[in-house]
Amino acid sequence: MRFSTLCLLLGVGTVFTVAKPSDPTSSSAAPAATGSGGAPVPTVVGAAGITAATSKFGAAIEGAGVDVKGNIYAVNYDGLKNSIGIALGQGAQSSYYQDPDSTTWFNGIRVIESDQTEHNDVVAMLAVDVTNHRVLRISGPPGNAAAVTYCQDAAMLQPNDIAVTDLGDVFLSGMNYSASTGDLWICPNGGAHTPRRIAQLNRTNGIEVDPTNKYLYLSESTNGDGGVVLNNVIWRYELTNSASGSGLDVKNGTDNMPVRTLFKDFSEFDNTGSTDIDGMRTDKNGNLYVTRNGLGEVVVFTPQGELKQRITVPFKGVASLEFGGAQGTDLAIIGSCGVDEKGCLHVHRVDCAGRAFSGLQADKKSGSH
Ligand SMILES: *[C@@H]1O[C@H](CO)[C@@H](O)[C@H](O)[C@H]1NC(C)=O
Ligand SMILES: *[C@@H]1O[C@H](CO)[C@@H](O)[C@H](O)[C@H]1NC(C)=O
Ligand SMILES: *[C@@H]1O[C@H](CO)[C@@H](O)[C@H](O)[C@H]1NC(C)=O
Repeated sequence: MRFSTLCLLLGVGTVFTVAKPSDPTSSSAAPAATGSGGAPVPTVVGAAGITAATSKFGAAIEGAGVDVKGNIYAVNYDGLKNSIGIALGQGAQSSYYQDPDSTTWFNGIRVIESDQTEHNDVVAMLAVDVTNHRVLRISGPPGNAAAVTYCQDAAMLQPNDIAVTDLGDVFLSGMNYSASTGDLWICPNGGAHTPRRIAQLNRTNGIEVDPTNKYLYLSESTNGDGGVVLNNVIWRYELTNSASGSGLDVKNGTDNMPVRTLFKDFSEFDNTGSTDIDGMRTDKNGNLYVTRNGLGEVVVFTPQGELKQRITVPFKGVASLEFGGAQGTDLAIIGSCGVDEKGCLHVHRVDCAGRAFSGLQADKKSGSH
């Protein structure tokens, strides 16, 4: 319970020190989840951040990445597949980077370095390029960033989304929707980041590391005949030191197959197996936030797999999410508005900062870049 206490203290500090009149979350007064001791699990509604009327993002808004200041980045800025914008925080609703290659199709993004002191100017992020089966490393200030290929393999399905361990190992999901096939790849931290396929599954999408770096969560969706979605599950893979010793990797069992357990089966859990899982993120307590794309909902599970909370947003196509804001406790939930081909963002104040945000604060303190 040590981390839990830390998060609650941080939550109290948030309320008294950073809420500003212009803060979209300050009026939401979201109740904290209880979820333990048999108390009812609350369904809560957050505050609007970007609506169809105000949005400069297209319906394929995805990502989402957070920097050390809590600014949130998302793709499909201006409705362009090769464009990343700032969605929340300093410079919100402005362009961050547009790739000169018009075939580039950004989807999942993660900030890996963020040394912002006074200005929003030293950020490095990894963004997947669905079309060209690669990950780009983009760095520099907004409007003046540059990209290089970080890892690439034509055999990758897409990739769709990305997770990064504290040691810099990159895990990628990806799918072929019509074939109902999916992938799990690693671009290791060491060497030339040469990609390696870890597993082939049905469609994979949401992917996230837990804050202890012991587990990798991966969603798997299954289509039946005619593309009808039959089932949605979350696997929890065990991580271990990589064979090269320079980072982490998925652990192999005695059969040399990845070691994993079934974390959640939505057909059994709440009869929503036909609704796709999309982006997933953990907070620093290890709670797993899961988007349900089509239900307008984020479901939160404790590390033990118990339902902690359901967060409802006013658009059904919930695609991704990330914790931002000055304390990393403003959960930005993004997805298609469902009207005018626009991308929406909804903010919900939570009681515990996100894993990615917390990791960047730790980097800043240790000065490790
Ligand atoms: C996806 O699978 C279908 C078969 O269902 C195949 O025809 C198509 O080429 C595949 N697409 C990609 C991008 O691999
Ligand atoms: C993956 O697809 C196969 C073939 O359709 C199916 O038998 C299997 O149950 C699916 N896996 C999950 C986890 O639903
Ligand atoms: C797991 O097995 C794969 C394939 O044999 C191998 O490349 C990888 O290094 C193994 N992982 C670990 C952690 O040893």
